[in-house]
Amino acid sequence: MAGNSIGKEFTVTTFGESHGKFVGVVVDGCPAGLPLSAKDFQEELDRRIPAEPKIVSARVEKDTAKVLSGVFNGFTTGAPIALMVENKETDSSDYEAIKDLPRPGHSDYPARIKYGGFNDYRGGGRFSGRVTVALIMAGTIAKKLLSRYDIDVFAYTQSLGKVKTDKQFSATEIRKNKNAAATRCPDLVCAEKMEEAIINARKEGDSLGGVIECIAFNMPVGIGEPLFDSLDADLAKAVFAIPAVKGVEFGAGFRAAELRGSENNDAFLLKNGKVVTSTEYSGGVLGGLSSGMPIMIRVAIKPTPSIAKEQKTVNLSSMENAALSVKGRHDPCVVPKAVPAIEAAVAITIADHLIRSGFIPKVLKEH
Ligand SMILES: Cc1cc2nc3c(=O)[nH]c(=O)nc-3n(C[C@H](O)[C@H](O)[C@H](O)COP(=O)(O)O)c2cc1C
Repeated sequence: MAGNSIGKEFTVTTFGESHGKFVGVVVDGCPAGLPLSAKDFQEELDRRIPAEPKIVSARVEKDTAKVLSGVFNGFTTGAPIALMVENKETDSSDYEAIKDLPRPGHSDYPARIKYGGFNDYRGGGRFSGRVTVALIMAGTIAKKLLSRYDIDVFAYTQSLGKVKTDKQFSATEIRKNKNAAATRCPDLVCAEKMEEAIINARKEGDSLGGVIECIAFNMPVGIGEPLFDSLDADLAKAVFAIPAVKGVEFGAGFRAAELRGSENNDAFLLKNGKVVTSTEYSGGVLGGLSSGMPIMIRVAIKPTPSIAKEQKTVNLSSMENAALSVKGRHDPCVVPKAVPAIEAAVAITIADHLIRSGFIPKVLKEH
C-alpha cells in the first residue's frame, strides 16, 4: 500500500505537490457534531509562515482552506472531510536548470530512481515542506477535537543551530508567546539570538537545523495499543513523516541511557487525590501507554538541504561529477515552519488513539 495515510480510526490522507495545483487532505473518521468552518484553519495556516522575511523563503503564500466535504450546517457529519489549499506562488524555472543535478541532502536522487524519472521534481514535488500544509489542516481538526477534552498540544523551538533555551515552559507561557517570535521560541531573548543565527547562516549561503519540543497537556491515562500501535511508536511515525525530521525522543530520551534506574524512574506520588510523578523522564509514556503526565517529545530537524554554497553532485544525464549551488527560494532554516506541523502530527495521533480507545465517541454531544 502506498504510504500517504496515517491513523486507524481518525485517518489522514494527504495529496498534492509543491508546484502542482493544490495541496490537500482527506480526514476520515472524525466524529460527527464537531463545529467546523473554513475560518478555523486560517490561524494555523498563517502561523506556518513566520512574519520575518529575513528568516524564511521568498515563497510566501497566503493560504486559504477550502472545505469540500464532510461539513454541513457548520458541523462535521461523520463523513470524510476533504480540504484543499491552492498553490498560487509557484515558480519552477530554477528546478528545470537542476533537474539532472540532485541536491545533496534532498530527496531528488532516490526519488528519481524509485519513480523512474516520472516524479514531479519541481520544488521537491511530493517531498516538499509544502505538503505540511495538508498535515496542518488535519491537525487543526484534531486539535479542535482534543480541546473539548481540555487536551492541549503545543510545540516550540527549543534550539536552533547552537542557540538553545534551557527554560521549561508552562502551557500558559507557550500559549502567550506562541507567535511572538518569528523563530517560534517562547524565550524572547533567545529567540532574537536564533533569528541572528539564521540570518548569518543565510548570508554565508548556508542553512541551520534545530530541535522542536512538543508537549501534550492533560492526557488521560492508559491510551495506546501495544505492542505495535503503542502510543510512542505511532507518535514517532507521524512525526517522522515530516520532511527534514531526523530524530525523535521522549522525555529523557537518549540521555536515559546514561542514567541509573534510581535517577531515571519517575517516582509516583499522590497530589490532590491524583497519581502523578515527581519527575518526567519517561515523557508521559510507559509501556506504550500514556501515563497521565504530559507527553514530551523532542524532534531533531536537520539544516535545509538547498543551499547557495557550492556542493558536489553528479550529473545524472551525462554521468559526470558536477558542482551545484542551489538558487531559488528556500528556507534558510525550516524549524519555525515545522513547529505547527509537529503539533499537527502529535494532535492527529492522539486524536486517533482517543477515538480507538472509545475515550472520544463517534458522535459528539452538544458542547
Ligand atoms: C516546513 C518545511 C519547509 C521546508 N523547506 C525547504 C526548502 O525551502 N528547501 C529545502 O531544500 N528543503 C526544505 N525542507 C526540507 C526538505 O523537504 C527535506 O529535507 C527533503 O524532502 C528530504 O527529506 P529528509 O530531510 O526527511 O530526508 C522543508 C521541510 C519542511 C518541514
